[in-house]
Amino acid sequence: METLIDSGRAAIERGARIIQSGGIVAFPTETVYGLGACAYDAEAISAVFAAKGRPMDNPLIVHLADSKDISDVSAGYDSRYEPLIEKFMPGPLTLVVKKRGDVPDCVTAGLDTVGVRVPSHAVAREFISACGVPIAAPSANLSTKISPTTAYHVFEDMNGRIPLIIDGGDCDVGIESTVLDITGDVPVILRPGAVTAEQIASVLGQVKTHDGKVIAAAPAPGMKYKHYAPSCDCVVASSPDSAMQEYGRRAAAGGNPVILCIREHMGIYAGFDVVDLGSGEDEICRNIYAAMHGAEKRYDCIICEDLGHSGVLASVMNRVNKSAGGKII
Ligand code: TXA
Ligand code: MG
Repeated sequence: METLIDSGRAAIERGARIIQSGGIVAFPTETVYGLGACAYDAEAISAVFAAKGRPMDNPLIVHLADSKDISDVSAGYDSRYEPLIEKFMPGPLTLVVKKRGDVPDCVTAGLDTVGVRVPSHAVAREFISACGVPIAAPSANLSTKISPTTAYHVFEDMNGRIPLIIDGGDCDVGIESTVLDITGDVPVILRPGAVTAEQIASVLGQVKTHDGKVIAAAPAPGMKYKHYAPSCDCVVASSPDSAMQEYGRRAAAGGNPVILCIREHMGIYAGFDVVDLGSGEDEICRNIYAAMHGAEKRYDCIICEDLGHSGVLASVMNRVNKSAGGKII
């Protein structure tokens, strides 16, 4: 199959026709690119799992053009969550709610809940509206690989597997949405993301946080898999000194390492191969996956600084720690 990359209204309309005839299409969102199919079409959903090589027990998020469409896939939710929907939808927040019976089991991996999200990216919303149906979509990478934040990242993983990639430019947020379960008494973050625990708590009063470790029997089925893995080694360095020591050890052993660091630290690493992640939490978040995509091609070990644990950096470090398989030096 030939994989076309195209942008603009013509691409959106072409994508919508593919979805309506049971096909799958990659499209941009503000977080990462998604690989979409009609959420009511079990066969198209199977094709998404096949194209990604994704285990069938990991459910998909259903994307909607507007939060008023939540009732198209959900059997309802507690009205105390209205302010949260008001504030973060559209945006990088996925809510896990009770599912409606006509959403096929393969979308939700047999769960009686469904993840719903309203992207804020203009192209995503135009695309979903043009399709006229809710769009189930995981991130548009091969399972276990780094999520795509450009159309070209998608092409690298999906060339020959899907007919169309709608190009909407670089993703502005750069990591996946926060997944929040609102079916129980207390809201629980199943996956930290661009909307922080502090932001959610400021609207709801309280939220249970996920600790970011890969655990076997986690409530978000996806959390038990090794995710976001670059094709080379990856370690987290607790300080610039330990980053340089690790770099020295690797280089002395004939390796080809690189350090990912914040802009303020660029001067510390004179003579080392480094990638500048930028300055400030939003910029670092936007750049992290693109930095890893670039580094895994040219180096055999990514040494990433510990970037901090407040705000959205906690979510960024959740991804980096998984890439490193928990290795901290
Ligand atoms: O930003 C995002 O969320 C991107 C863009 C494309 O929207 N999508 C994304 O999808 O990251 P994916 O499939 O790569 O990750 C979805 C996560 C998984 O960890 C999955 O287990 C969890 O959401 N999830 C989905 N439905 C769920 C449900 N009903 N209950 C618990 N967790 C659920
Ligand atoms: Mg993913």
